[in-house]
Amino acid sequence: MDNRPIGVFDSGLGGLTCVKKVMEIMPDEDIIYFGDTGRVPYGTKSPETIVKYVRQNINFLESFDIKFIIIACGTASSAALPKIQDEIRTGIIGVLEPTCAAAVRTTKNGKIGVIGTQGTINSGKYLQTINRMNPDLEVFSRACPMFVPLVENGYLRGTIPRMIIEEYLTPIKERGVDTLILGCTHYPLLREEIQKFMGDRVKLIDSGAEAAVEARERLEASGMLCDKKGGTDRYYVSDTVDGFAELGSVFLDKHIEGSVHKIDIEKY
Ligand code: DGL
Repeated sequence: MDNRPIGVFDSGLGGLTCVKKVMEIMPDEDIIYFGDTGRVPYGTKSPETIVKYVRQNINFLESFDIKFIIIACGTASSAALPKIQDEIRTGIIGVLEPTCAAAVRTTKNGKIGVIGTQGTINSGKYLQTINRMNPDLEVFSRACPMFVPLVENGYLRGTIPRMIIEEYLTPIKERGVDTLILGCTHYPLLREEIQKFMGDRVKLIDSGAEAAVEARERLEASGMLCDKKGGTDRYYVSDTVDGFAELGSVFLDKHIEGSVHKIDIEKY
């Protein structure tokens, strides 16, 4: 048993897709979230820059006495986690492995689509990980760089996201995939429109949620789930709190305004 908080981070709002699942399956755990809103998007930055950001984000989370870290960011999981894993004292996971495992379990026709940021898709990590798990599966990938700005600006439904979704996802749909990995944790916020476009027969895999499930399994296996009642949640951002608090409250279906604080991430 371990009553210390779980740390979760992303470049912005996207990691809340993971927080939502953590709250659902581990309601008594305390959560400390960091959204790097001052430096979003990560998806267009070089791997060296992402590694630097990720080290700072982890240093910040480790300044609290946390028991576990979830990198709720596809870009950071692909570009940085393999390079820094050995340096980290705290138990840590990214989204890549649990998400690929879920997709491999889910597909029936052996055709998986992967969408993510430019950084994630260029890294080829989803493709490599799926191929390692099952070399017979076909994987079709596409970067969708405009999805993150849509989400960060609150365009979650309607004509504008619909047009951009059609533009990016038409080639993947035409390949006949039955499973689509939302390989960036921002994308589940566009889930409704993505599902409408892809059709009900295509299963969407939410990378943030899969990471939360994996975190629960790891904590349980190592006897580190908490034994107290009632989890708390605190949020830190590297830019203004307003937009994050407002959109985050809508997404989590919970008022988080009073629990969002601004920090200077460059100090870490
Ligand atoms: N949500 C992140 C991801 O999963 C980062 C998106 C971005 O900042 O470009 O890739």
